[in-house]
Amino acid sequence: MKRFYIETFGCQMNVHDSEKVIGTLEQRGYVQVHTPEEADLVLYNTCSIRDKAEQKVFQRLNENRRAKDKIFGVLGCVAQQEGEKIFEKAPHVRLVVGSASYPRLGELLVQIEQGGGRAAGLNLDTDATFETPVTRRDNPYRAYITIIEGCDKDCAYCVVPFTRGRERSRRWESVLEEARTLAGMGYTEIQLLGQNVNSYRDPQDAARTFAPLLEAVARTPGIRRVRFTTSHPRDFGRDIVEVIDRNESVCNMVHLPVQSGSTRVLAAMQRQYTREEYMQRIEWLKASPRQIALSTDIIVGFPGETDEDFRQTMRLLDEVEYDQVFSFKYSVRPNTPAQQMGGQIPEEEKSRRLAELQEKQRQIQLRRNTAQIGTVQEVLVEGFNLSLIHI
Ligand code: SAH
Ligand code: SF4
Ligand code: F3S
Repeated sequence: MKRFYIETFGCQMNVHDSEKVIGTLEQRGYVQVHTPEEADLVLYNTCSIRDKAEQKVFQRLNENRRAKDKIFGVLGCVAQQEGEKIFEKAPHVRLVVGSASYPRLGELLVQIEQGGGRAAGLNLDTDATFETPVTRRDNPYRAYITIIEGCDKDCAYCVVPFTRGRERSRRWESVLEEARTLAGMGYTEIQLLGQNVNSYRDPQDAARTFAPLLEAVARTPGIRRVRFTTSHPRDFGRDIVEVIDRNESVCNMVHLPVQSGSTRVLAAMQRQYTREEYMQRIEWLKASPRQIALSTDIIVGFPGETDEDFRQTMRLLDEVEYDQVFSFKYSVRPNTPAQQMGGQIPEEEKSRRLAELQEKQRQIQLRRNTAQIGTVQEVLVEGFNLSLIHI
């Protein structure tokens, strides 16, 4: 019996990729175990969005560098970014595979099992998406479906275009077929995934864009809730809000990362929208009778961000009043245009801005959550947390 252990870092795309990788391994006779000590094959599905995330993986690899009886593999975004350099940094690693090469994972494993040695899957130049009927979903109620992979937006700070390759959408029919299969298996909630989920376009018919796909999935008999993440503001059309308005099964919640409230910084980031264009989308969402909850991502301390730029981001928080904000200090990433930019902000100043922003958002959220007291909301119970039950 061959036993494998996998640890996943990063975003939901990675979480779902791991579900597909687990299914692929189980089909090949591997059995999942829950500690690296018990495993013959140890896999890390990695994230390199910020420096800290990347360091975690090398820390893990360093911890177990003396385990000679195991095959170690690095998957995901650090694998793609660092490539065969990983074999030098951590000589006990024998498998390095970026997400664009997962359809070849089985073949690469055979290569290692039969020939010993090392194997790498690092080709980014592909139109293929990772579709497999053997996905081993972790949650019995909520299922992810990837509808688009890669990213063509090339924001100045971001590694994703280098780690996940060019944008490629999955076929419309293939998405709907998976939704119907999941409904038949008893799943209640579907979450559509993509780095920019709303940039979706059926490769066989460009008129089939994200909004009609969302509506078609939402109308799958048996599916009660549909979510989608992440939406890019540039491609966020009013048609998406109209689909939410018409379909109770689409959850009334949209994650729309703004990154900065300053048009000047947005231009330097190459985000392809202005503050005003972003706020226009927020107005469409706020006008919806469904009271759509809003969340966002913000980067503070992008090179050249002045105190006035930062104040504009703070004012945007007051104007929008998000229900949740994920905020980060700008982290310099390899190969990105922002790495070379002048005006890098000192670490202490980034920390100061982040703390100020998070305190403002804490107050906004407290106000918004307090306003919900006494209302009745539908929730999906996904499990029990036994540690909360006191007998
Ligand atoms: N495709 C999505 C988000 C992908 S990454 C979008 O464009 O909105 C998730 C978040 O990580 C980003 O929204 C951004 O806020 C943050 N992020 C990406 N690169 C970063 C970097 N170099 N430093 C700090 N935060 C970063
Ligand atoms: Fe990164 Fe920008 Fe693409 Fe989002 S849209 S994944 S932030 S390059
Ligand atoms: Fe991280 Fe890659 Fe996702 S860099 S955020 S795991 S796309």
